[in-house]
Amino acid sequence: MKNTLQNDLVLRAARGENIERYPVWLMRQAGRILPEYRAVRSSLSGFKELVETPRFAAEVTVQPVDILGVDAAIIFSDILVVPEAMGLEYQMLESKGPWFEKTIKTEEDLKYAEVDFDVEDRLGYVLEAIKLTNQELNGRVPLIGFAGAPWTIFCYMIEGHGSKTFSESRKMLYTNPVLAHNLMDRITKVTIKYLQAQIKAGAHMVQVFDSWAGILGTEQYATFSMPYLKQIADAIQEVPLTIFSKGAMSSLEDIANLDCNTIGLDWNMDIPEFRKVIGDKRTIQGNLDPCALYSTHDEVKKLTNKLLDSFTSKRHIVNLGHGVYPDVDPEKVKTFIQTVKDYAIKY
Ligand code: CP3
Repeated sequence: MKNTLQNDLVLRAARGENIERYPVWLMRQAGRILPEYRAVRSSLSGFKELVETPRFAAEVTVQPVDILGVDAAIIFSDILVVPEAMGLEYQMLESKGPWFEKTIKTEEDLKYAEVDFDVEDRLGYVLEAIKLTNQELNGRVPLIGFAGAPWTIFCYMIEGHGSKTFSESRKMLYTNPVLAHNLMDRITKVTIKYLQAQIKAGAHMVQVFDSWAGILGTEQYATFSMPYLKQIADAIQEVPLTIFSKGAMSSLEDIANLDCNTIGLDWNMDIPEFRKVIGDKRTIQGNLDPCALYSTHDEVKKLTNKLLDSFTSKRHIVNLGHGVYPDVDPEKVKTFIQTVKDYAIKY
């Protein structure tokens, strides 16, 4: 059963309803920047134990609500739990990032890209963490669920680790488009089931991260990412959906035409320009440069107010243009959040 929410600003902003002030939260707020997170994390064997133990995942999910005062919680997990559930186990290497032992290179490897399994069983730990988090939040703020977009998950399943260019993944789009579409289709099916399971467990809103959207050309994005994002957008109807396609400059208008509520913008994108293009039909999320939080408190305030002054609509959820960097001073984050909360909305 869902709690009645005391603060549902994020949900109202997503639906284009009336709001008293702009809501604010930060991508990657759960973790890294908070000493309280690092304390929990260092008491465990590593990142995966934290992700896979619901009571710890719930604890670090609630921390930014208590400490930073954000208007939404985002469940502490990772986009990589999906490829793992499909058959590719990952490790999170200290200061190196994700690493998969096996990757997908041929049709034969599709045995590591299973579709017909019980998502509620294999990813039950995330669903349990969602339930526990809602108990602990007790309706204070909404809880955001998430998944990676099929293209971004595809990149990790092909490459097996991070990359600046993901050229192995892009290579497959040219050399074996049939295999690429087959894999994308499988990821999409699992992602839809997974997001629906998160909603059933209590996620009040969901976000799809297409972190590597920006490395595809417009045409390839239209061929290899958009159809799958569309399937997800069409399937998710119960709660507001946010699509964050980082760097997808020339595809933004098409993304805004999908059946979603909110479009996430990174800091390279111009909010007033994009507003002119889409009008008031979607909510915009973003987009302060994460590096702006390295400036002085006064500057953070000024830059945040400048961002807010550029809005010409109430349809905004304030956020950074990408995840908060680990070495940012939490006090600067608080200044950012307080500035948004103090801002008198003009619309
Ligand atoms: O937003 C939140 O606070 C919720 C938690 C969250 C994490 N990862 C925890 C995490 C979310 C939403 C993600 C999403 C994610 N994971 C994305 C999409 C968003 C983006 O940043 O573009 C991607 C591409 C990943 C994959 C991933 N996970 C990488 C490349 C890395 C290593 C580099 C890094 O960012 O640290 C991770 C590890 C990871 N995921 C950490 C956290 C808190 C750091 C692990 C640690 O505690 O040491």
